[in-house]
Amino acid sequence: MGKYQEVFDRSVQDPAGFWGEAAEAISWYKKWDKVLDDSKAPFYKWFVGGELNTCYNALDRHVEGGRADQLAVIYDSPVTDTIQRFTYREFLDQVKQVAGALKGMGVGKGDTVVIYMPMVPQALMAMLACARLGAIHSVVFGGFAPKELAIRIDDAKPKVMISASCGIEGKKIIAYKPLLDKAIDLATHKPEKCLIYARPQVQAELTAGRDFDWEQTAKAATPADCVPVKATDPLYILYTSGTTGMPKGIVRDNGGHAVSLYWSMKNIYNIAPGDVYWAASDVGWVVGHSYIVYAPLIYGATTIVFEGKPVGTPDPGAFWRVISQHGVKVLFTAPTAFRAIKREDSKGEYLKKYDISNFKCLFLAGERTDPDTYHWAVDLLQRPVIDHWWQTETGWAIAGNCLGIEHLPVKAGSPTKAIPGYDVRILSADGQEAPRGNPGVVTVKLPLPPGTLPTLWNADERYLNSYTRVFPGYYFTGDEGYMDTDNYVYIMGRVDDVINGAGHRLSTGAMEEVIAQHPDVAECAVIGAADNFKGQLPVGFVVLKAGVQRAPEEIKKELVQMVRDQIGAVASFKEATIVPRLPKTRSGKILRGTMRKIADAAAYTVPSTIDDPTSLDEIKMALLSIGYAQAQQ
Ligand code: COA
Ligand code: AMP
Repeated sequence: MGKYQEVFDRSVQDPAGFWGEAAEAISWYKKWDKVLDDSKAPFYKWFVGGELNTCYNALDRHVEGGRADQLAVIYDSPVTDTIQRFTYREFLDQVKQVAGALKGMGVGKGDTVVIYMPMVPQALMAMLACARLGAIHSVVFGGFAPKELAIRIDDAKPKVMISASCGIEGKKIIAYKPLLDKAIDLATHKPEKCLIYARPQVQAELTAGRDFDWEQTAKAATPADCVPVKATDPLYILYTSGTTGMPKGIVRDNGGHAVSLYWSMKNIYNIAPGDVYWAASDVGWVVGHSYIVYAPLIYGATTIVFEGKPVGTPDPGAFWRVISQHGVKVLFTAPTAFRAIKREDSKGEYLKKYDISNFKCLFLAGERTDPDTYHWAVDLLQRPVIDHWWQTETGWAIAGNCLGIEHLPVKAGSPTKAIPGYDVRILSADGQEAPRGNPGVVTVKLPLPPGTLPTLWNADERYLNSYTRVFPGYYFTGDEGYMDTDNYVYIMGRVDDVINGAGHRLSTGAMEEVIAQHPDVAECAVIGAADNFKGQLPVGFVVLKAGVQRAPEEIKKELVQMVRDQIGAVASFKEATIVPRLPKTRSGKILRGTMRKIADAAAYTVPSTIDDPTSLDEIKMALLSIGYAQAQQ
């Protein structure tokens, strides 16, 4: 039996023993009484009775343990032409001040703080300062519009908000403060105070009595110490797209999170403390939470905060420049970033300018790594390229190739095998395990390992309905796929109304809710259609109210603007088409799955329950008119 199989078997046969041992790597104020409490299953608790502080584990203990002068964070910002390096000691000193500032603003253990920040080191400081105080942060991605921010404010009810005067998106400067003010106006819940980091590019208007300048407040503050919290206390809430306009507030606890992320750095990514690890993502996404901030720091590695893009900042050599300049060992990004580079530099000419000899491995996630991108990246880099599959809910990978345990052969198109801790099973609609090779819903036999969601924020019922009631005893991932006879997992896509565009998770249901508000729209459906560059892009189908005579182009423009204003630019909603009706079953269910297949020019069968099959021809015509469904011609 190979090493991977041995470790995997132990993890599922004796989860308490396995994770209890892993937890020894973390510093605890008080050790746990019980590793796994399943007395209220399917609500599982890890390390019950344990007490720790996540910020202590990420910073203080490295300073105390000999890493004070090692680099903790490198800020590399081609958009502002800045490179800034912070040792563990320097970063800790700043975090202590920010935590002191937040404490002075009334933030304490159990309070919530919403963070709306661009990719600057202050975003990490804000998160760690909350963790230091035992406060619960909720970071909102900068590409979301004020209304989306307002929805999250109303759900998380922050005492304080933290933001910056602006973000810089390639060549665009985006003033954040007006967006923050608008979100607070729209929200029913009003945060008491805001802490604003002033960037030189834009000056933010501060509201007297409510808004405080980051620099001044942090400088004047008394440095704050770590507050011990329970292992099961929430560290953060991260909202992610569900099937409706109301996002799901994924809760992450302190103890299981620290244990699993520490474990993952050696076992999955095979790096050592002191190595430079770079996740080219954004702190607004789960990849940013886990692998820009917490895992590298808890592990004692050096992390990179990159404020740039794979292309255009200034060229498709940006990633190679960062890898070479900072000695990056492992890069983690989304396949779409590599497609972006390939589109502009298919022969890899820019790579030739840099020495990337320290670089060991590329990890990809966020969407399936298609075989073309996989082979292109391997040929170019001449290093392992590892696809791994995970979700905001789990916080770390469910399937992957654990390089620190055993480098298994790669099969292009598969994220390899279940990671230790995740007992992945493919189930058919009747709840029975699907035979090898047959597609089904991808589930994980409960319990999930530490670090995964214990529940949804203030929504236990929604947690049960979304994840554990579909197949009792199993966690429902929302993905479909299959396992081959070697136990390699293949992820084919979502079974719900969630899509992944450019590695960003979006809800087509939320877009439908926006479009339905247009006065001329009677009915609509949004599907995710395959896109060669971004993986998937939303396409809207709209039925107009009787008697509407306006030009379709004009209506389409308004719909695109509405989604941009209400959800944000990140929705990438650019295509809408008007159809006489939507294809439905006789009971009125819109046939989105069939529409998606038509858009992707994939084979489909006309459902026997369809009300009128000619409605599918109308969809095909509409899609052809906007450049989709081409292979059907
Ligand atoms: N703040 C404000 N706006 C943002 C934003 C942010 N943080 N992030 C994205 N946007 C905007 C973009 O500027 C773009 O606006 P536009 O419609 O006016 O051009 C829109 O949202 C769509 O963004 P995106 O889908 O990211 O497309 P892009 O063309 O700007 O960039 C890639 C494409 C592939 C280069 C980029 O998405 C990328 O690097 N992705 C891979 C890495 C990653 O972040 N993965 C996340 C999970 S690992
Ligand atoms: P997010 O919560 O944003 O991380 O998105 C999670 C979803 O992205 C998963 O449910 C999958 O649909 C998709 N996804 C993430 N990584 C992969 C991968 N490596 N292969 C296939 N799909 C992936």
